[in-house]
This record gives sequence, structure tokens and C-alpha cells, in this order.
Amino acid sequence: MRTTEIKPGIHWVGAIDWAVRDFHGYVTPNGTTYNNYLILDTHITLIDTVKHDFAEYTVENIRSLADPAKIENVVINHIENDHMSSIGQIMELAPKATIYITDRGKKGLDRFYDTSRWTFKIVKTGDTLSTGTKTIVFLETPMLHWPDSMMSYVKEDKLLISQDAFGQHIASAVRFDDEYCDQYSVTTLEHAVVDYYANILMPFGQLVKSKLAEVQKLGLDIDMIAPDHGVIWRKDPAKILKMYLDMAEGKAARKIVIIYDTMWHSTEHMTTPLAEGIKAAGVEVEVVKLRSTPMSVAIKKFWECRGALIGTPTLNNIMFPSVAEFLQHLKGLRPKSRMVGAFGSFGWGGGAVKEAYEVLKAMGLETVEPGIQVMYRPSVEDDEKCFAFGKQFAERVLEYQRKLQGDEPGVCRPGKQL
Ligand code: FEO
Repeated sequence: MRTTEIKPGIHWVGAIDWAVRDFHGYVTPNGTTYNNYLILDTHITLIDTVKHDFAEYTVENIRSLADPAKIENVVINHIENDHMSSIGQIMELAPKATIYITDRGKKGLDRFYDTSRWTFKIVKTGDTLSTGTKTIVFLETPMLHWPDSMMSYVKEDKLLISQDAFGQHIASAVRFDDEYCDQYSVTTLEHAVVDYYANILMPFGQLVKSKLAEVQKLGLDIDMIAPDHGVIWRKDPAKILKMYLDMAEGKAARKIVIIYDTMWHSTEHMTTPLAEGIKAAGVEVEVVKLRSTPMSVAIKKFWECRGALIGTPTLNNIMFPSVAEFLQHLKGLRPKSRMVGAFGSFGWGGGAVKEAYEVLKAMGLETVEPGIQVMYRPSVEDDEKCFAFGKQFAERVLEYQRKLQGDEPGVCRPGKQL
């Protein structure tokens, strides 16, 4: 049986993508799932579809439980392709079904399909759909993370079907958080949550906070959260809500990451005394070379830490391309509450460190200037200067961390924050 009953009469009928390693540029070393849910009630209702490559898979899952032609309602919580692109196949099988979708969702769907043949019901926050014995309450979540996004709350089962929010890119044979943690570990799951948040939801921290407050205000009693990717939060939904609130508030670990690239190893050489200086100030440090690290992993590591030092050699008077690319990704994710500095080597004119600071300041991040630069090859004196800058930077990060989080231990730090 490839389906799983997650609540009485509510079945996971999704697909497991064990093979995907590049999710529109985001690396997914553990694959992912496309979760969707079938409510077997007086009026059979399907919530979300799956990526088109897996349409047959979900259709077979549905068939194992009910005749797809009997589906009366299809809820589309979000129109991104990984959740909507098998709607054509579903509607061929259930042509009389009514599609429940937000206004923006419908307008978006019109760009992908000839929707004139389908019946729609446009919904907004507070609208409901009765499936017979169950009531679905819709909750719009615009820009979390697309304008059309919404969630569906099944009142009688205290079940929040949360679309992308609270998801993780994990392919596994088990469907629930407790089962996953028994097989792997809590830390592995928490890493997957942070990775997903950093790369997808980082720009929307304020919205996440206000939406979580709205959920609280609505008094929704939640005892299970079923996202559209990864495992379902059955054992401890409060845990994922707390992790999201912490990340939305910009909380971070008392830790510094050095993210760099190098041409002839001079900038790379600088990372050693910098890291030693950081350690001497009593702060944890990690070093990440960009050309050896997928972009989404570097982004996650940046997000976990309160401070980051960006290392770049100068090439043609500007930043090294991989560093510029990393900062461009970061800019789009609009990070907040992080302290940064820059360093690097140059041959004759220099310019990369200056440019890195300009980009970092334009993002509104706290900077420690002027950073440190060395010509051609770091000397023993340069090593000493790097050590001193690393230590000074770490001390500033500690002060900043105290200001933002007091004595609260590191959060946004898998395995330690809860
Ligand atoms: Fe999983 Fe926004 O799609």
C-alpha cells in the first residue's frame, strides 16, 4: 500500500522523488516528496496535486482508495509546478470537480491552462468547504512563498495542510516526523528544516511572524501539520512552529562562517589565521569554499550563523565570480540581523573587498570595516593581522549576539536549539 492514512479518512496520496538532486538550482541531496492528500468523505476532496512527472503515481494512489471520477473538490493551495502541474491529468479524470483556489491562484493558473472548461470557487481567509463530516477552513498566506499561497485547515481533525511552509526536502519511506527521527535523527530533520527555510523562506521572515500570529489569533487548535514536502509533523507540531518563529525573528547561532573562494590560494591561506582568531575569542567557526560547496548549502550555513566573513580575491578589479554569485543569491534572500566582514588578496589594483562591502552594506547588514587585504601572498605579518581581525570580528559578533538574543543559547542551530 503506497498511501498512508494520516487522520481518519484523510490519506497521503503523494509521490516520493528519491532521485531529484537539483530543485530549480537548489541542491537536494536527500531528494524530496510531493505530498497531497485525499479526504474520503461524503464529498471526496483532493488537496493539492503533485509534480507532473509523478502524475501517474498519484493517480494510482488515488485509485487504490477511490474512483478518481468521484472526486468532487480539488483544493489548490499553491500553483508552483511541483504541486499544480498534474492538475490537467486529475481534471481529465474528475472533470466535474470544483477547484478551490485563491483569486491570485486562479489568475496564475489561467496562464498555464485553458481553465474555461473547469469549475472554480475562489476562496479567501475564513471561507470553508464541507466535505460531509469535515470542514476545511482556508487561510490565505500571500507571499509565503508565492502570491497565490494558502493553507487548508481541517477543523474536526485539527490538521493544518500547510503547503510549502514547514516542509523539508527529504525523500523517505516514512511519512511522519517521529518515524523519521527513529530511523535517522532529530538533528538530520532539523538541518533539513533550516536548509529549506534559509533557501526558500528567508526573505519572508516578517510575513512568517505575522501569519503565525494570525493563526494564533484565529485560535486554530493544531495537532498535526502536513506540509507539501517531506515528513508530516505528528509528534510535535509545536516544535516546528517554534523553529519557524525563531528563524522568522532572525535568531542565529553564536557562530561565524568564513565563506570564500580563491585563485592561487592566498585568500584561502588567510582563512586559517582568521579562523584561529575567531576561535581565540571563544566563538565557533566553520570554513566554506564556494567552488566546493553547492550554493544552497553555503546559503544555509550563512543563515545559521550570527556572523560571516566573506573572502574574495580581486579579479579584473572586482570580486571573484563565485563570490559575486553567492552575494547575488544572498541579496535576493534579503538576510537580516547578521554581522559581516570581508577579506581577500590582490595583485596590483585591488577592488574586490571594497566591492564586497558595498554589496553587503546595500543589503543592510551590520558590517565590521575595513576588513583585511593582502598583496600577492600573505606574509607572517599578514597572518598576524588576519588573526587580530578574526578575533576583533568575533568579539563584535559576540556583542551583537548579546544585544539581539541576550544570553539565549544558539538557535537556528540543529541539534541544540530546542
Ligand atoms: Fe513546493 Fe512553492 O513549491
